[in-house]
Amino acid sequence: MIYFDNSATTAIHPLVLDTYVQTSRRILGNPSSLHHLGSQATRLLNQSRQQIADLLGVSSEEIYFTSGGTEGNNWVIKGTALEKKGFGKHLIISSIEHAAVYKAAYQLESLGFEVSVAPVDSQGFIDVEALSQLIRPDTILVSTMVVNNEVGSIQPIKEIGELLKAYPTIHYHVDAVQALGKLPISSWLVDRVDFATFSSHKFHGPKGTGFIFWRKGRKIQPLLNGGGQESGQRSGTENVPGVVATARATRLQLEEVAEKIARQSQIQAYLIDALSQYERVVLFSKASANYAPHIICFGIKGIKGEVLVHALEEKEVIISTTSACSSRSHQEGGTLKAMGVPTELGTSAVRASLNSQTTMAEAEQFMITFNHVYQKFQQLFID
Ligand SMILES: Cc1ncc(COP(=O)(O)O)c(C=O)c1O
Repeated sequence: MIYFDNSATTAIHPLVLDTYVQTSRRILGNPSSLHHLGSQATRLLNQSRQQIADLLGVSSEEIYFTSGGTEGNNWVIKGTALEKKGFGKHLIISSIEHAAVYKAAYQLESLGFEVSVAPVDSQGFIDVEALSQLIRPDTILVSTMVVNNEVGSIQPIKEIGELLKAYPTIHYHVDAVQALGKLPISSWLVDRVDFATFSSHKFHGPKGTGFIFWRKGRKIQPLLNGGGQESGQRSGTENVPGVVATARATRLQLEEVAEKIARQSQIQAYLIDALSQYERVVLFSKASANYAPHIICFGIKGIKGEVLVHALEEKEVIISTTSACSSRSHQEGGTLKAMGVPTELGTSAVRASLNSQTTMAEAEQFMITFNHVYQKFQQLFID
């Protein structure tokens, strides 16, 4: 099987799985318990927090564990709204955000908040000038993703950060779920970013785990109240094996990261070039420094994305329609729509997504299978 759906989820790394299993087996205590088993679990949590902080170049008090990207995004957006509602009720997101951002923001509208949406250009990049026009005296949050999960466009985080330096009271949140290990951290975890969201299963960690970076000095309200875990900010007994495994996955993901990025870029360039040779193929991603190295969004004109996904699946090649979350709705991805891609073309889009272990041999096999499927579709092409 060729698995090119790594933006939806990745296989857990064998060493990470080992850490998860060993921790589950050996660490019995609840970190909140007073006895030595509790202290042992707490020590592991703190070590994991420190490891992740060191890898990101931040302080350990700035890392909070969550259940993944969806929780992280909901927490920062709603937690900001609860914290700052006395100062303002206006939020800005972009038109290509993941549902965990835009649905969280829109839910707040029923509570009297207003959401403005910054547009993207035809290539999937946020229009910073247009975003700047949306800022108001009552704006409390700007939330933008780092790497778009459908087409892979890398957003101008540094530029938005620079813009927001003139508005120090606005929280700046970035959804970094597709970014860790795909771009140098320094290019997006810039000093004006207040919060960043991460999800372990996107980088070979366990599903249902993740963390947020929360810059010291910023304030949000907790959404999960109870026993006061995570310094009182996120209650619930900690997922100790998930946290320890997440720390290991983060370390592995960031090991030799420059080489991994270079390798994926090379494979991506090969695939984009090979696909572009087909007359009816339309590419929505590019092999350039402005696009993440692991995502290739494309379509065959006149063939619905889901039809291509299933045709490849029959030959044991796994890709997806543009995002796992929208794939069941049979709709075009929100990003393509925001880019102004006509619906007819947008509904043909599929996404192939790589990981750091993907080989050129797999990419070549992918193209052989794709060619086979394409030739079969030739019979359907009528124009
Ligand atoms: C950009 C982005 N944000 C958030 C999420 C949600 O993350 P999780 O699956 O950990 O809830 C995803 C998952 O596809 C994503 O791609």
